[in-house]
Amino acid sequence: MNHHLVLGIDIGGSGIKGALVDLGTGDVVGTRFLRDTPPDSTPANVADVVAQVVDHFAERLADGPVGVTFPAIVQHGITLSAANVDQSWIDAPARQILTERLGRPVVLVNDADAAGLAEAKYGAAKGAAGLVVVTTLGTGIGTALIYDGALIPNSELGQIEIDGVRAETRAAASIKTKDALSYDEYVPRLQRYYATLEKLLSPDLFVVGGGISRESDKFLPRLSLRTPIIPAELRNQAGIVGAAWLAANS
Ligand code: BGC
Repeated sequence: MNHHLVLGIDIGGSGIKGALVDLGTGDVVGTRFLRDTPPDSTPANVADVVAQVVDHFAERLADGPVGVTFPAIVQHGITLSAANVDQSWIDAPARQILTERLGRPVVLVNDADAAGLAEAKYGAAKGAAGLVVVTTLGTGIGTALIYDGALIPNSELGQIEIDGVRAETRAAASIKTKDALSYDEYVPRLQRYYATLEKLLSPDLFVVGGGISRESDKFLPRLSLRTPIIPAELRNQAGIVGAAWLAANS
């Protein structure tokens, strides 16, 4: 087992957090370092904050890449969308920008893909065979497809159109909060969403993450699906852990 420490950094719409991860166990080691995402969240400004995170851990960092998540499509280091960050990320050479700013190699990955990998390697889907669909219910809906432990990146299944609207605009956890929906009102939206994913993908397992998964007993037992559906285990550290894993394994 590989017990060296790798830095994982999670870029979100409101915060940027980093921690050292023990890849032998998938545990975060020591305390996380957290900064606000700059209000003007351009690539250069975000890279400055990511550099502060790296500086904080610099003494304990081995050579080799750091893993960084981003809440949008990331293909070959280029960010192709920008749901909760400045629009100038669209088509930006984000990996190159970060690598140059940090002076060290960066592996950049979609946030939900990182969370999904972490669940597959260390968490709720550890060792799961076949197709696992990991969903994160948060500001939007992020998704990761994992087949026999391998990630199929950038699935973006929060963006599928259901009943004429993008699914995440009805079923994300942030919508429940914004519209003050009770679980009686919210569960049918989740039912419609997961039943649609089930019909399209015939997964072997659904894993549900995001902050709301802390109270998964209030909604998962009320869903009627053929596919087993279980809460994520790594909670809000999943992105950091998955990014660190990918940094050491790509
Ligand atoms: C974005 C995804 C992201 C998800 C969770 C969605 O709005 O399209 O790329 O993974 O939010 O942050």
